[in-house]
Amino acid sequence: MKSIHVAGTDLDVSEISLGCMRISGMTNPEISALIHTALDEGVTFFDHADIYGGGQSEAKFSEALDMNPRLRESMHIQSKCGIRQGMFDFSKEHILEAVDGSLKRLRTDYLDVLLLHRPDALVEPEEVAEAFTILQDSGKVKYFGVSNQNPMQIELLTKFVKQKIAFNQLQLSITNTGMIDAGINVNMEIDHSVDRDGSILDYCRLKDITIQPWSPFQYGFFEGVFLNNPKFPELNKAIDELAAAKGVTNNAIAIAWLLRHPAKMQPIVGTTNPGRLKEICKASDITLSRKEWYQIYLAAGNNLP
Ligand SMILES: NC(=O)c1ccc[n+]([C@@H]2O[C@H](COP(=O)([O-])OP(=O)(O)OC[C@H]3O[C@@H](n4cnc5c(N)ncnc54)[C@H](OP(=O)(O)O)[C@@H]3O)[C@@H](O)[C@H]2O)c1
Repeated sequence: MKSIHVAGTDLDVSEISLGCMRISGMTNPEISALIHTALDEGVTFFDHADIYGGGQSEAKFSEALDMNPRLRESMHIQSKCGIRQGMFDFSKEHILEAVDGSLKRLRTDYLDVLLLHRPDALVEPEEVAEAFTILQDSGKVKYFGVSNQNPMQIELLTKFVKQKIAFNQLQLSITNTGMIDAGINVNMEIDHSVDRDGSILDYCRLKDITIQPWSPFQYGFFEGVFLNNPKFPELNKAIDELAAAKGVTNNAIAIAWLLRHPAKMQPIVGTTNPGRLKEICKASDITLSRKEWYQIYLAAGNNLP
């Protein structure tokens, strides 16, 4: 597993991360097998959120692993906060409370990374700044980032926040490429030209913010997986041909396609199946050519102007 250096930090992280959103319904032995498979494959970065499984994803993660300091040091743990029942909340009070809750459930005294989960319309960046400084000074959080934020929202935060915004976690898969489409189709009278995110991809590259693509196998908003799906015949044909040529499975091609982007993204995969995770990790061993990358992009139903 290759690692990437996270600009503006001392972090070197596995280029594939395991998302823990779906683990709350698993048994402890199943969770333990999944996480140990990840570690054996070199996937040492785990993505959580206070709300996953209503807190159960974090709690069962540490319980299943019987978390201890040695194991904790062998991994990076990221969590998120800011989503509450019926509202988003980036108040200082809520951020501090949420982190304490995550630390308790994860049985650790620090998070490697804290992300603000979804933009709060009522954000007061001065409060975020105070919360981040308290968390950093107390050693509870080492690095910070955001999720689902556009450039101006990040600019607003960085006017007040002293810490580097090191990550932005965003939805991106071969079938969900809005942030790529808009850059290819600048100023055209077609839907693909619409910039829905304020050029977030180029902004993150410009500001050295590592993008973490979430739901890299899903199409729509959790509508399903595009691989082996009859709704995407051309795409699956192109992916399967490439997979056969490279001696890997289609899952690995889907992730290799994201890793090929020069922005040096860190995809967050959400499988709960250790065998599938091993297949996915092969993505780190292959590099798609420019031609192969574009072939997959076009097979997903996109056009070049
Ligand atoms: N920041 C945000 O707003 C946000 C939002 C959503 C998610 N996330 C993060 O992103 C992570 C990944 O999200 P996700 O779980 O939706 O992503 P995903 O990796 O695209 O989807 C994984 C799901 O697809 C299933 N699947 C079926 N066939 C598959 C195949 N051939 N290859 C891979 N998976 C297949 C998996 O089932 P099996 O388990 O049986 O393999 C699993 O249920 C989450 O765990 C979370 O950490 C963040």
